[in-house]
Order: sequence, then structure tokens, then C-alpha cells
Amino acid sequence: MHGKLVVITGGNTGIGKETARALSRQGARVVIGCRDVAQGERAAAEITAESGREVAVLALDLASFASIRAFAEQVLDTCPRVDVLLLNAGVVLGDRRETADGFEATFGINHLGHFLLTELLLDRVKASAPSRIVVVSSDAHRRAKTGLDWDELAQRRHGYSGWQVYCESKLANVLFTRELARRLEGTGVTVNALHPGVVATEFAQGGDVRGPVSWFFRFASPFLKTPAQGAVTSIFLASSPEVDTTTGGYFKDCQEVKPNRAARDDHAARRLWEESERLIAIRSHGVA
Ligand SMILES: NC(=O)c1ccc[n+]([C@@H]2O[C@H](COP(=O)([O-])OP(=O)(O)OC[C@H]3O[C@@H](n4cnc5c(N)ncnc54)[C@H](OP(=O)(O)O)[C@@H]3O)[C@@H](O)[C@H]2O)c1
Repeated sequence: MHGKLVVITGGNTGIGKETARALSRQGARVVIGCRDVAQGERAAAEITAESGREVAVLALDLASFASIRAFAEQVLDTCPRVDVLLLNAGVVLGDRRETADGFEATFGINHLGHFLLTELLLDRVKASAPSRIVVVSSDAHRRAKTGLDWDELAQRRHGYSGWQVYCESKLANVLFTRELARRLEGTGVTVNALHPGVVATEFAQGGDVRGPVSWFFRFASPFLKTPAQGAVTSIFLASSPEVDTTTGGYFKDCQEVKPNRAARDDHAARRLWEESERLIAIRSHGVA
């Protein structure tokens, strides 16, 4: 990874921090985007002390289009290349919340924010080809068996279930990967999604979610993967020559596996892309 630049969302803790650490050790320059910049600075200092390489931290709130635009502008100003864009940040929320732009927050952060960020950085990623986009999804997408709820996609005002909405947002990650891979054919940019395993991190902790999901992550944590183990497939997809030309795939334990049927629906993948563009256009320019 010497000479390569990696931009990673949510690199201040958990799976993202361990991914940033490993890629920095391999020689990459890493830029972390996260909300808690102080925590990001602590992670960066720890990684730099080990790897001897610069790790930059920039404020990024994926729940705000303005913040995403400001982050992308800073990346474009300071990074002449982006060899790897790693879309890692993600949340599960117990209560329905909204992003600054008025979208349900789990969909807004896990999918829509990353969609906008990718659009803003895509020309730089293409100009850096051969380059890679890596999307941290989850096997939780398999729970969204019947696909996305198109009527409620970005709002979820009726019968809110934090876990169901999370599963659908992770399905959106796989569908996004599929459609982006199709659109990037012939550009030298690959894009792959992954399941990191079930990992003991801050995920589902800190009061974001209550009930069985949070109890599971609290009490099962000694038996779950460590963050370093959970980062292995992200690191593989970001750096291994074995996947130089592989694109549009879904990986688990560094092996390509089939995502569920709903995640292999090309029509849904295209529809999600168009719908995401429309939602962002509505909020940004007031037009549909
Ligand atoms: N842990 C698991 O078992 C598991 C299983 C399957 C998939 N995953 C996926 O793995 C990814 C990483 O999760 P993790 O387990 O490492 O969880 P984590 O420890 O909770 O880390 C989540 C990261 O996302 C960032 N983040 C959250 N909201 C954000 C926002 N609005 N804007 C920017 N960054 C934001 C957080 O930083 P700030 O709060 O500072 O912004 C943090 O760095 C997620 O996409 C998750 O869905 C995890």
C-alpha cells in the first residue's frame, strides 16, 4: 500500500480503526472521516506511533449533506489521489431519528450519506485507477428477505423497527455496490461489499439501541470476533492483489459468497440508485 491513499468513514473506533491501522502499517496514507474528531485524533496518534505514517482526521457527519460536502471538499483539496474509498461507518438505532436533511437516520447514514460521498469523490477515485471502493455491509441484509420498502424507504414513519430498518440499510449497501460496479465497468475502479462477522465493538452500544440486539452485543461480546478480526475482510478487499479485478461481489471471511436474492435484484439496484439521486436532489436543490 506504499504511495496509496485510503479514505475511510468511521475510522476512529471498532472495525474501521483496525482497518485504518492495518492499511497504515502496510504503508498507506490514511484519512479518517468521523463525527467524534477528538476520538479520531487519539486513534490517529496511536496508529501513527505504530506505523510511522501520517493519519489525517477530518470531521464528517454522514447525517448531514452539508457536512458530507465539506468533508469531500477537504479531501479533494488535500488528497491528489484516492486509491481506496472505504465506506465503513454505520449505526443501528433504537428510536426513529432524522438526519439534518429530514431522512430517517439509519437509511440516511448507512446508505444515503455514503451514496452522496461516493458521488462527490468518484472522479478523484476514477482518476486514481486502478482503485477500489469497499462497502461494509452485513449478513443482516439477509433479514430483509422481501427487499426494500419503497414506500417508506427514506422516512419510516409507520411501525418503526430499528433492527428491520438496519437490515434494509445493509441490503441497500449491497444493492448500491452492485449498481456502482455496473456503472464503473471499464474504468479500472472495483467495488465490493462485505460482512465483517459479528464483532465486539461500540456497535449497538451506548444507548443507541435497547432490547435483544443490545443485550446480545453486550453479553455475547467475549465470544464475538475482536475488532482486529472483524477488519480482516475490509483489509483484504482494500489491499489484496487477489481481488485486483474482482468487482460487484459480496465477501465474508475473505471469500466471495452469494448475498440473498433481494440483493441480487438488478432492477432494485437501479431503482435504489435513481431514488437516492432523487432524494439528494430534492434536499439539495428543492427539485425532484
Ligand atoms: N459489529 C458488528 O458485529 C457488525 C456486524 C456486521 C456489520 N457491521 C458494520 O460494520 C461497520 C462498522 O461498525 P463497528 O462494529 O465498527 O461499529 P462502531 O464501533 O459503533 O463504529 C461505528 C463507526 O461509525 C462512525 N459513525 C457513526 N455514525 C456516523 C455518522 N453520522 N457520520 C460519520 N461517522 C459515523 C462512528 O464514529 P463517530 O461516532 O465518531 O462518527 C464509528 O467510527 C458498520 O457499517 C456496521 O454496520 C458491524
